[in-house]
Amino acid sequence: MNPVIKALTFRHACKSFDPRKKISKAHLDMILTAAHLSPSSFGMEAWKFIVIGSDDVKKALRPACWNQPQITEAGHVIVICARPRAIDPLGKYAGKNFERRGLSEDATKTYIEKYKNHMETEVFPRMSAYAWCSKQCYIALANIMTAAASEEIDSCPIEGFEKDWVEKVLNIDTKECEVAVLVALGYRMKEQPPRRRHPMEQMIEYR
Ligand SMILES: Cc1cc2nc3c(=O)[nH]c(=O)nc-3n(C[C@H](O)[C@H](O)[C@H](O)COP(=O)(O)O)c2cc1C
Repeated sequence: MNPVIKALTFRHACKSFDPRKKISKAHLDMILTAAHLSPSSFGMEAWKFIVIGSDDVKKALRPACWNQPQITEAGHVIVICARPRAIDPLGKYAGKNFERRGLSEDATKTYIEKYKNHMETEVFPRMSAYAWCSKQCYIALANIMTAAASEEIDSCPIEGFEKDWVEKVLNIDTKECEVAVLVALGYRMKEQPPRRRHPMEQMIEYR
């Protein structure tokens, strides 16, 4: 089987982790590398990954996450944060992102203008900067889960959380970043349940 499809077949939203099993440092580094290598629109990388391995922190976090047991039973929880302020088209961070491409000054200016125009006409009328950054965060989320599955490490994406509460527990400076989504990582306790998916032909259209 193709190794990516093998990993995607192994992956499921794991509800019950073995709390005795921890992820090795090497595996955790590999998973974080997958997050780091993730693509983002305009190469903005407007994210931050907070890795939680401490039992005390996971315990404090769990009530803010609908009291889901995955939070405390998983070896690690990665809190994926969006950085909506970083994407300001006229801000320093966005400017530096374009400058690092090594283009001429004129080409860089044109690129920034194109980005600014796109954000103002297509993005901001439809969604907040937080929502746009969160979309990018979900790409990293997918890569984290697939990378983990490639080493037979289980995961559960977590959208069932109260944002303000999680940010308070983790003492996050919300001027810098805001929680987009969480992912619990560890090793399954139970067999994977049968996969439920609508037929491919219902979801895919060729033209
Ligand atoms: C962004 C996102 C957030 C999710 N949040 C939760 C969650 O908070 N708790 C949970 O148990 N499952 C959560 N899930 C898991 C989904 O319910 C699950 O992926 C879906 O039912 C398909 O099952 P599978 O992942 O096992 O194939 C989430 C999935 C995604 C993609």
